[in-house]
Amino acid sequence: MPKCCVVGAGRVGLVAAACFAEAGYATICIDSNQEKLLTLQDGLLPFYEPGLQELIRRNLNCGKLQVNSCLSEAVRTSDIIFLAVGTPVNQQGEADLSDLNHVVDELVQIGRELQDKRIIVNKSTVPVGTGDNLSRRLGKANGCYHYVSNPEFLREGSSIRDFTVPDRVVIGTDSNRTYEDLANLYKTFLPETTPFLKCSLEEAELIKQVANAFLGIRISFINEIANLCEQVGADVRKVVQGIGLDRRIGTSYLKPGPGFGGSCLPKDMRSILATSRLKRVDLSLIEAATRANELQRQLVVKKIKSVANDSQLQKTIGILGLAYKPETDDLREAPALDIIRLLIREGFKVKAYDPVCNPEAQKLFPGVSFASDPYDLAKDCDLLVLVTEWKEFGELDFLRIRKIMRSPQVLDCRNILDGDRLCQIGFTYFGAGISSTCVEHS
Ligand code: UGA
Repeated sequence: MPKCCVVGAGRVGLVAAACFAEAGYATICIDSNQEKLLTLQDGLLPFYEPGLQELIRRNLNCGKLQVNSCLSEAVRTSDIIFLAVGTPVNQQGEADLSDLNHVVDELVQIGRELQDKRIIVNKSTVPVGTGDNLSRRLGKANGCYHYVSNPEFLREGSSIRDFTVPDRVVIGTDSNRTYEDLANLYKTFLPETTPFLKCSLEEAELIKQVANAFLGIRISFINEIANLCEQVGADVRKVVQGIGLDRRIGTSYLKPGPGFGGSCLPKDMRSILATSRLKRVDLSLIEAATRANELQRQLVVKKIKSVANDSQLQKTIGILGLAYKPETDDLREAPALDIIRLLIREGFKVKAYDPVCNPEAQKLFPGVSFASDPYDLAKDCDLLVLVTEWKEFGELDFLRIRKIMRSPQVLDCRNILDGDRLCQIGFTYFGAGISSTCVEHS
């Protein structure tokens, strides 16, 4: 059985390491951050991901999984080395590959003393062309390394399921032998029906970014249509149902909201746009979807202003949900952060609540008051704005909330609440892409 090494104990690396160990492979996860390693050795996680803590604890306890910082020892004792280090992208779309480059430099050093073959599998998202460069550099180490691009398609909040029941496995390499070795590792624990795709390094790198860009385009598309629905007396949910019944279209990634966030969709779209500028290829659709996504947050604030603005009184807005989506503690590029910033700039008093992100968000907004639960949030608010669709928000007691709000008004940016019922019990309800018919009932 091949031994695995995963470099990088982040959201992708830890999931991969835990799942390989769970599948029975002896796995070492390497990270240079000692604090993170101590947290893991104590059986805790440096971030929130459902189910991962138990998986890591179990495999650390039975010895299938180890975590430490010694790359050279891990490379010597492993057959397949997965790279899952951070590759952040700046506002211009330029990727910071310094961590990846550092690991590759170390691998070249270590490789000079290796006698036999190792497969280096890159899971970090990189601009197209990076793999070719890394592969050539790794080639300087006695020819012992075979570099493969094997992008990950995990969604935060459902990473373990996405890793163990993936829609597909993409393997970029020109070597049949290396492809077989890696595919065979996966085939021992993935469902038999999992499609495998062999392609070039460039194609694998593009597939990762193009998939995210396409999802971003779908979301921006439906957000714009939702904005139109509000103006023409339509309900976007019906429109999505109607177009989704066309099997060529379907309904996934067509839920309107305050715009997509997280570290992946926005980042990959900026990165592919940077490549397009470099190669002088027009990617105007991706550009437009990115711009529409920025505008969508501003439109939420415009709506809030039209509902709650009153020059005589300073209105209090309660933000329900801060994470960029439920089941994660990730605040990167979260729409709620932009919305709060803009509201403060407009002179509103802002309160906020998130089931897991309060402590991190507090550091970003010292002037915002953070509530201990949704009812504490609703106290004295003029408008509640549901930004993240945490399941528990769909189960709130709105009769209780109506009594403690200053004025019973809700803006549901994710359409998870029952607007009709809220109107019946005295709320003014606004959805996303739902025209104002409900409001007229109140
Ligand atoms: C995304 C991709 O879905 C994964 O396949 C990919 O592996 C990952 O990026 C990555 O590159 O690592 P993730 O960022 O975890 O995963 O989140 P998604 O579930 O895709 O949601 C992204 C954003 O789109 C969220 O802010 C979400 O609220 C928003 N969204 C999603 C909508 O506004 N409407 C939708 O219909 C779907």
